[in-house]
Amino acid sequence: MSVTINGTRHVVEVEVRTLLSDLLRQELGYTGTHVGCEHGVCGACTVLVDGQAVRSCLMLAPQVDGREILTVESLSGPSGLHPLQDSFRRHHGLQCGFCTPGILMGVLGEANAGRDLQTVLDSVLSGHLCRCTGYVNIRAAIRDAWPTLKERR
Ligand code: FES
Ligand code: FES
Repeated sequence: MSVTINGTRHVVEVEVRTLLSDLLRQELGYTGTHVGCEHGVCGACTVLVDGQAVRSCLMLAPQVDGREILTVESLSGPSGLHPLQDSFRRHHGLQCGFCTPGILMGVLGEANAGRDLQTVLDSVLSGHLCRCTGYVNIRAAIRDAWPTLKERR
């Protein structure tokens, strides 16, 4: 199969039962995608597949043959942090950071899908478990960055 990850095309041979999260982390070294529950609950493994937020522990690697994936590693570059990452930094929207890659990619996926801010804060965020922050600062960071995310769509 072939898959483009963060702009780089990879041609790989995988078992049909390989999870996308395992392909990313173990085969290709994109360890910014975290794995918590491995059954679709915690949201830590969220990546974008063709712009849409998906839980990579619930997808098989062969399902992304020919598709484009963005992981958290795609967000920052020579010009610095992505505005959403910068907002998390300014608002102290993370502590241990385990949940952070999944939340960042999940929020960006919802912005791509045209979701409104309140939906993201009320329901989308409820699908991302954070054991550290209490969500107050995460919500503040998303709220602050949201207008910029909408402009970048
Ligand atoms: Fe995928 Fe928890 S590891 S949702
Ligand atoms: Fe530690 Fe969210 S910052 S789990």
